[in-house]
Amino acid sequence: MNGTETNISVSPDNLLQVRDIKKYFSVKTGLGATKKWLKAVDGVSFDVKKESVFALVGESGCGKSTVARLVLKLLDLTSGRIIFKGKDISAINGGDLQSFRRAVQIVFQDPFAALNPRMRIVDALSEPFKIHNIAPGSEIKDRVVELLNKVGLNAEVLSKYPHEFSGGQRQRICIARALAVSPELIVADEPLSALDVSIQAQILNLLQEIKKTSGISMVFISHDLRVVRYLSDEVAVMYLGRIVETGKTDDLFAAPKHPYTELLLSSAPKLKYSFQHAPGESRLPVDSSDMPGAVDVPPGCPFHTRCHRRFGPCDQISPELGKSGESSVACHLYKTS
Ligand SMILES: Nc1ncnc2c1ncn2[C@@H]1O[C@H](COP(=O)(O)OP(=O)(O)OP(=O)(O)O)[C@@H](O)[C@H]1O
Ligand code: SF4
Ligand SMILES: [Mg+2]
Repeated sequence: MNGTETNISVSPDNLLQVRDIKKYFSVKTGLGATKKWLKAVDGVSFDVKKESVFALVGESGCGKSTVARLVLKLLDLTSGRIIFKGKDISAINGGDLQSFRRAVQIVFQDPFAALNPRMRIVDALSEPFKIHNIAPGSEIKDRVVELLNKVGLNAEVLSKYPHEFSGGQRQRICIARALAVSPELIVADEPLSALDVSIQAQILNLLQEIKKTSGISMVFISHDLRVVRYLSDEVAVMYLGRIVETGKTDDLFAAPKHPYTELLLSSAPKLKYSFQHAPGESRLPVDSSDMPGAVDVPPGCPFHTRCHRRFGPCDQISPELGKSGESSVACHLYKTS
């Protein structure tokens, strides 16, 4: 790709660098009301290392899917920068954009909506090979069967239609379609949450297998803390459009710093068990009824209205995300650099 070079220091270890990205939507809040800004994403930065899984976790409406759509270049940024393999994605077009579209794939929450109901599986999976001109026509069918085997299906399903499969099988097909183009990054937005609990572990294991064997990086979005703990290398906790804590997954789960992270983890009693031994608890177990809206984000620390540890500056001064030991946290309780 020949996108514009940026002055962001590019580390060869980082596949994706997200810097201070914002996405504001203009919304009307009531009949005849004036327009307000809904700050869906408000200054988010993170890196996704090569061959690693970066998880985004947080309550509904905190901005996870908006981050995903920005990274996929499906939405324009209000401001900030997204650098993929050292190049600014807002500046790419033409053939470079096509390369980007091939290198970065998505797996959606709802595998049924993601598949064309009138397309046989062989056609759905042949499409990426044709669009990206990856294999000669005579080889495509073999490549499709190879892909199906990779995701635990076989050639018997080739002439079937999406409605003939279970939810788990459909998600396997969507994952196969993402893998067809040998992507470098998969953005998976809640890929398990539409599936039966009994199937979730199977798809999670498939993603784990892909992680171990393919070298593909992932941005993995989930409500399920146990899944995040099982699959991700690094994690960012989002609250009202911002990252409040981020670090290595093991560190964050062992010693959460931000009061919001503490709240999430303390409300999930089964976290101490591995995913295979305790399937079933898929949603963040906190009560979200007192979460402020993204249009009326409280002044000061956005979390102060729910924080049991708030003190002096919390309702006045917004804490910046800063380094504290190995992780980063946005909270006045910590001295950060
Ligand atoms: N196109 C849009 N126009 C206006 N507001 C939007 C738009 N897309 C998202 N939002 C708002 O932005 C905020 C963040 O939404 P987003 O879908 O990113 O949250 P999320 O963390 O993915 O939530 P969930 O866990 O429910 O999927 C929400 O308040 C949502 O209503
Ligand atoms: S800054 Fe204050 S209100 Fe915000 S999380 Fe930290 S202690 Fe709580
Ligand atoms: Mg979402």
